[in-house]
This record gives sequence, C-alpha cells and structure tokens, in this order.
Amino acid sequence: MESRNARLFSLIDGKADVVAIVNSGDSHIDHNFKYFTNAKSGVFEGSIAFVGPKKTTVVTSQLEASSLKGLDVNVKVFGTRKQFEKIVGSIASKYKTVGLNFPAVTYEGFRRLKKSFKGKTVDVSEEIAKCRAVKDRDEIRKIGESCRIASRVADRIPGMLSEGMTESQLASKLSMALYEEGSEGPSFSPIVSFGKTTAIPHYFPGKLKLKQGDLVLTDFGGMYEMYCSDITRTYVFGKASERQRRLYETVKASQEAAFSGIKAGASEKDIDAAARSVIDGTEFKGRFIHGLGHGLGRQVHDGGPVLSPRGTGTLEVGMVVTVEPGAYIDGYGGVRIEDDVVVTKSGCRLLTDAKRELTEV
Ligand code: GLY
Ligand code: MN
Ligand code: MN
Repeated sequence: MESRNARLFSLIDGKADVVAIVNSGDSHIDHNFKYFTNAKSGVFEGSIAFVGPKKTTVVTSQLEASSLKGLDVNVKVFGTRKQFEKIVGSIASKYKTVGLNFPAVTYEGFRRLKKSFKGKTVDVSEEIAKCRAVKDRDEIRKIGESCRIASRVADRIPGMLSEGMTESQLASKLSMALYEEGSEGPSFSPIVSFGKTTAIPHYFPGKLKLKQGDLVLTDFGGMYEMYCSDITRTYVFGKASERQRRLYETVKASQEAAFSGIKAGASEKDIDAAARSVIDGTEFKGRFIHGLGHGLGRQVHDGGPVLSPRGTGTLEVGMVVTVEPGAYIDGYGGVRIEDDVVVTKSGCRLLTDAKRELTEV
C-alpha cells in the first residue's frame, strides 16, 4: 500500500519540498499531525511535524517524546525556545519551499516557523484534504467499528425514552451508551430534540420534556481508535400522525435515491440533486435546508467530499461520506436520517446498520 507521505507528495506534484504541520496550543492542534505520524497518544502542543516524501520528522518537547516510541518517524526533542528555533532552522533550511496547511496554522505558529526559516511557504491544504479524503484499509476498519458502535446505541434509543424526560437526559443516556458499547466517547456534542425543536438542524439539547406524539431526533457519533461515526435517527414517541409518517417516508426515499447514485466517479452535486429532487417533488418542497453529506474520518466533518449543491468533485473508491437528508417545518418539527457509507467501484457499502424504518415508541 502506498504510504501517506508518498500519496501526499504525488498530489503536491512539486509545489513544495516538505510539508510542515504546525501545532499551537491545545485548541489549535492540527489533526494531520497524528494522521502523518500515526501517534495514538500525546497532545503535541507547540510541536511541528515535517512531512517529507518518504519520512516524517517530528520536533517536539520531552513531554511528548514517549508517545512517538516505536513509530516510523524521526524525533528531535527541544527543551527551550532557543533549541526549538535551532532544530527547526536546521531542518527547514534544507528546503526551498515549505508547504503549510494554511487554515490550521495560527499566526503565532507561523511566526515561530518564520523565525528559523526564511524561505518560501505555500498553501497545500487542498492536497492534504484530498490525501485524507481517500481512506486506507485500516482507516475504513476503524470507521466501520465506530459506526457499528453508534448503530447499536441508535437501536437502544427507543428503549431509553420515557414521558417527561428532558432532551439533556436523553443526551446523557445515549452518551453513556456509547462508552458501554465500546466507544472512547462522543465524536461531537449530541443533538437531541423533541417535538418542535426537531425543526432546528443544529439544535443544542435543553430542558424540554418529552410528550406523547413528539418526533424525537438524535444526531450523534462515537470515537473508535480516533475515528468518528455520525448517525441520525428520528423516532415518533407514540403513534405517528399521517403527516409525520409522510415526512419520514419522504426523507427515507430521498436517502435511498442518494444511496443508488453513490459510486466511484459520481459527481458530488449530482448525488445531492438526486436526493433533493425527491423531497422537492412532495409537499415538503424547499424544506431540505442543508447539504446531503460530508466526509467522515478523524474529524466528524473531515474535509472533502462535499455532497451538496456546492460540490465540485467526484467520488473515489475508499472515500467515506455521510448521507443525511432532512426536511424541517418551523413550528412543527423535522426528520433527518443519517448514515455513513464507504464508496466502492460500483456503489457504496453501508457502515451504519441501525434500523432505518420508522419506529413508533
Ligand atoms: N452533527 C452534524 C452533522 O451531522 O453533520
Ligand atoms: Mn450527524
Ligand atoms: Mn453529519
């Protein structure tokens, strides 16, 4: 299998001689640092990974050096800021052009690099995103396990519902269930909404109480070996009304249209259009107010691909995407169904396997 370094440099195609992944404080750690070093632990504040075509060299503090033991990377340890500058200078000065992941480098991180490196810097963020978008076998295994865990939790949710419970209580129960099913924790703060609040796609759960006839929307995911899952299920607490049922079946049919269109070579915006036209052909026209899906991996929104009207690319074998159509009616409620798939040559393989039929609790 081609190494990640080799794949990145074939995409960079001579634009840079080395790529520097520059971390700052703990809220500005670039996920690419662990992607290219394969480190499983460590935070790596203030560290730099110089990713070359064949090998990666990490400049880090004593604190983090033990997290790099046994990995196929060169390690240079600094104690003081002066030592950091000297080490970075001696590595970077071998190169004419250093590629950077511009959206992730802070101004402070850039200044630290430029103190020791006077050459040219270029943005290689698109090439890095393209490299990350196609997952290797090991990544697909980890995402697959993360998705199976989240699916088991989704199938337990109907059993967690009781009249009068709050959205926050359900968020807490489903987060606990993620740990119980083998996850390292939630991949993002869960969205849990009841009744009218299900019409708000990025809702934050609160004190609203569950009552008979409510739609219940849960959007959550777990982490497994640092890889995310992302799943949404919508249930009805009690017997579904005719309108709720039509809303649910419309969104489900939209998702199925998307599944049918996904395969290597398919255009991102065509898949979105196929799903959108199903909803727009019904009484719920115009109620699908977000994109169809996004890449999934180390991050929940893992860069490309972008399944939306703005999508400009085509799918490739090994990409992992979410497929999450929804329809939302202000003051009434909404339905979203979200699953995760891996793109294959002739179609896609579903990684989440929770029940997708309408569940009345
Ligand atoms: N939780 C937001 C999303 O599904 O993308
Ligand atoms: Mn989601
Ligand atoms: Mn999603």
